[in-house]
Amino acid sequence: MTADVTAEQIDELLRTAHDARTRAYAPYSDFTVGSAVLAGGRIYSGCNVENASYGLSICAERVAATTAVAAGERRIDAVAVVGSSGRPTPPCGACRQVLNEFGPSMAVVVETFDGVLREEWSLDAILPHAFGPDYLKE
Ligand code: THU
Repeated sequence: MTADVTAEQIDELLRTAHDARTRAYAPYSDFTVGSAVLAGGRIYSGCNVENASYGLSICAERVAATTAVAAGERRIDAVAVVGSSGRPTPPCGACRQVLNEFGPSMAVVVETFDGVLREEWSLDAILPHAFGPDYLKE
């Protein structure tokens, strides 16, 4: 776990992600996902929002992250993800890239819908050799 994120904050983040999943709009895949990010000591949530034009669907993690950024946050310390499968759902590649922008070593915590299985990584462990803002400067 990232040093500045407490176990209590992770638990709260997961609770928020579970709650957000109940509001997922996923009539096409029927795969509901909830997410929550910790930024500036606050928690922001998101769920996946699908579209009849399937490719326009957006993942829960990107809704949570962009909600935090729209509220003025620029650094994310942790993200929680809860999917509707029996396996903990890791963020997809696109979401890892978007999350990297706001916290390359943030804690990533994923849990099954029933809370039975949990996994945790640092984002840089699941997105090695990431392209980020620094590459645009040199
Ligand atoms: N999905 C997420 O919201 N987050 C993930 O990490 C994986 C996939 C959503 C996208 C789509 O609405 C559904 O799950 C099936 O891929």
